[in-house]
Amino acid sequence: MIVFAGSSHPGLAGAICTHLGIRPGALRTVRFSNENIKVKVDQNVRDQDVFVVQTSAPPVSDHVLELLILLDALKGASAKRVTVALPYYPYVRSDKKDEPRISITARLIADLLAAAGADRIIVMDLHSPQTQGFFRIPADQVTAVPVLARAVKEAVPTGSLVVVAPDAGAAKLAERYARLLGTDLAILEKQRHGDDERAVAVRIVGEVGGRDALIVDDEVSTGGTLVEATDFLLGKGAKSVRAAIVHGVLCGPALERLTKSALVELFTTDSVPARAHPKLRVLSVAPLLGDTIRRIHEGRSVAELWD
Ligand code: R5P
Repeated sequence: MIVFAGSSHPGLAGAICTHLGIRPGALRTVRFSNENIKVKVDQNVRDQDVFVVQTSAPPVSDHVLELLILLDALKGASAKRVTVALPYYPYVRSDKKDEPRISITARLIADLLAAAGADRIIVMDLHSPQTQGFFRIPADQVTAVPVLARAVKEAVPTGSLVVVAPDAGAAKLAERYARLLGTDLAILEKQRHGDDERAVAVRIVGEVGGRDALIVDDEVSTGGTLVEATDFLLGKGAKSVRAAIVHGVLCGPALERLTKSALVELFTTDSVPARAHPKLRVLSVAPLLGDTIRRIHEGRSVAELWD
């Protein structure tokens, strides 16, 4: 088994290799002045079981292309099987045709990965689980929810906790957290117009008065949804507000919004390179991804990991 690190998140790939007790595969990536990318696999991979770790981090589209070029190089070098681990999947929110004449880009990426030579895919906490169906090659979706739920349980007394979905799309996710934590559940109704990154909370179903609220979501991007939901919950009498969100993208004004907001703490993972902020608690998903890789290599069940 050889694990290669794409240039999007060498820290995570390194931690996965440490967990597996191996060294990352040797690779050289060159970016020329004309913006062309060259990837050279610097070791023999003939007939090997190869894994590549590449996440969606800026510059997102460059990293996608680098991954495709690496896959092509690995296949051309006769790797026996190539599995791509994409902890935060590129263009994951572009998963439906909710406007006329737009691309379902998450599906396009799935097609490109297969065309470039990927034999299997590992993804983590997709924006909508159905996106797994975009792949015509085997795809395992792993989840960091138990990792986050455990950290919340250790940090916050669950007696007064209520799990909150910041929009209807996160309701199923909130149900999972509520079950794991043994708490009640509330759901916010959020409205967003067109490409506007500003989200507005308009209604709540469930009781949060006098409770410690835990907002759960798949990703925090500009932080608009999170800050709006925090203010709304405090306005409804919540005692405190925390959040557990798998992909801490935190782009644009997110960190500034986090600083100004009344949110106490944000539990997130290193599925993308972690940003530094005093309110952030970053949990590593390297052991989870490492165990998944080991099980795939040994032909063992991945589902057993959740038991
Ligand atoms: C959208 O439905 C997602 O689950 C998140 O709520 C969204 O990505 C958060 O975006 P932002 O942080 O920019 O409000």
